[in-house]
Amino acid sequence: MITSSAPGKIFLFGEHAVVYGKTAIACAIDLRAHVTVEEAPTIQMKGPGGSIDLNPRKHPYIYYVVEKFKGLTDVTGVNIDIHSDIPVGSGLGSSAAVTIATIKALDAYYETNLTLEDIAVMGHQVETEVQGRASPTDTFVSTFGGMVQIPDRKKLGFYDMLIVIGNTGKFSSTRKIVSNVAALRERHPATIGQIMDTISTISETGIDFIQEGDFHTVGELMNINQGLLDSIGVGSKELSELVYASRKAGALGSKITGAGGGGCMIALCEHKNLSRVAHAIKRAGGDSFICRTSNAGVRIE
Ligand code: MEV
Repeated sequence: MITSSAPGKIFLFGEHAVVYGKTAIACAIDLRAHVTVEEAPTIQMKGPGGSIDLNPRKHPYIYYVVEKFKGLTDVTGVNIDIHSDIPVGSGLGSSAAVTIATIKALDAYYETNLTLEDIAVMGHQVETEVQGRASPTDTFVSTFGGMVQIPDRKKLGFYDMLIVIGNTGKFSSTRKIVSNVAALRERHPATIGQIMDTISTISETGIDFIQEGDFHTVGELMNINQGLLDSIGVGSKELSELVYASRKAGALGSKITGAGGGGCMIALCEHKNLSRVAHAIKRAGGDSFICRTSNAGVRIE
């Protein structure tokens, strides 16, 4: 029996701007997906009511991962069991974490000796096959962990940051929101171009302040980034309520993480305000999780 795990991720800065080649900072968090594999007569998934055979419609990510392994080795029967701390469909990279952890577990089980780079590439191919379009950021951060400058994929040093995640519980389609932003940019190329450039500058400046440990200024930059995300139409009433509630409760800064429209926001906090911020987010109608940034990428447990 082999168990592996891989982290979810947040965007500290720069989502949407990164689609246009601008700088973003993504970071792994200590919410993880765990995948256990063990020998079985067929390829099957463990569920609440027992195990069922792998089904491409019910388990698309795992199905495509297994298809990739069929091209690498003689795939024998295996039971796959998934447990994840990462809320699904909320912009925290939950599908990437499950995909990457499954690749790592099967790599160890079938002894295929994949490198981390191979795992990240395979993970991105699988996400693209399932979703049509997939950000390589989620699979990269889930594989390597830590703080990563995108699109260069430069791993920055590790900085321990305390984050409260607020989940609106509203599903939003990344593809649709990215295409709405593209349409807005077509209508207002100069204006939106300047906004994307400014978001890029925020990410670049943010790196310096993170490295200096000046989290008050990092928080201030997150608030500016949030204003610009609102300006390109990716905010929502629910997200704003959580953002403002967290700031009122003492967060250093707060913003949407990921595509927006629904999904999650993040609040950077000092230790003394963590539970106050988490409660404020709950009172404002969100689900909240206290977490920290994490340097741990995919690993065998
Ligand atoms: C979505 O999680 C983040 C976006 O920047 C899209 C992407 O990076 O591919 C909106």
